[in-house]
Amino acid sequence: MGKIIDGKEIARQIRLQLREEVQTLVAEHGITPGLAVILVGSNPASQVYVRMKKQACAEVGITSFSHELPAETSEGALLSLIDTLNNHPSVHGILVQLPQPAHIHPQRVLEAISPDKDVDGFHPRNVGLLAIGAPLFRPCTPWGCLVLLQTSGIQLDGQQAVVVGRSNIVGKPMALLLLAEQATVTLCHSHTRHLAELIAGADIVVAAIGRAEMIRGDWFKPGAVVIDVGMNRRADGTLCGDVAFAEALPRVAAITPVPGGVGPMTITMLLKNTVIGAGRCVA
Ligand code: GUN
Repeated sequence: MGKIIDGKEIARQIRLQLREEVQTLVAEHGITPGLAVILVGSNPASQVYVRMKKQACAEVGITSFSHELPAETSEGALLSLIDTLNNHPSVHGILVQLPQPAHIHPQRVLEAISPDKDVDGFHPRNVGLLAIGAPLFRPCTPWGCLVLLQTSGIQLDGQQAVVVGRSNIVGKPMALLLLAEQATVTLCHSHTRHLAELIAGADIVVAAIGRAEMIRGDWFKPGAVVIDVGMNRRADGTLCGDVAFAEALPRVAAITPVPGGVGPMTITMLLKNTVIGAGRCVA
């Protein structure tokens, strides 16, 4: 029977550590880390995420600056707000919640955020730095996946890793992070042929495709380690990942549950990036 990787507990431990780091920054350098969170429109899922981010900031002592703007906000007004935050000394991290309304060009917005405050790691400069192995800010979800593997004592060096999903937010940066840890990485996607066979050869599988329980338990090599980034809703309303968890559990060495696996790590790594950003302001 595989071990269940407890993302909630690992996230809790990291947040305790972050709280201490924040206290040190305040006491020794007079710097309180600050995170600006911008939400345009009223996407209900985004509203929940933004609320969770603000709560998590408060938990570790980070000041959050919330900017909740109406859906009809112009791109120019949003860019002007970002410019103000880029130059605001109390703001060490800026995050624009995605997705944005259709009239706003997402890439233009991401490129307007100062790379030194880009705690999502989505600015092309930060993407490039990650690609050459010199990251400034690592994207939060894939970094959280990596930390789950490292905290669980999983060897990455020389291992065969399969990442399923090629999004800019998860799949692509995940492949780069695993490569930096000396894994041999195969990046699979919707056009990949023989996906089940590729997964059967993997020591580590990261699933980030957004299709409920698409990856079946008998695809895995016995003893594989599985990180499930999926967050899907079944027809009966219950949550599930991209992996058929109950099938996989008896076969694998370790697996993350959904919920309670990767989810709690994403916001935790956002907090960590904000503290790193603030730490860079120490004279
Ligand atoms: N929407 C879904 N995931 C993310 C994320 O990691 N960052 C931002 N800004 N928006 C998101």
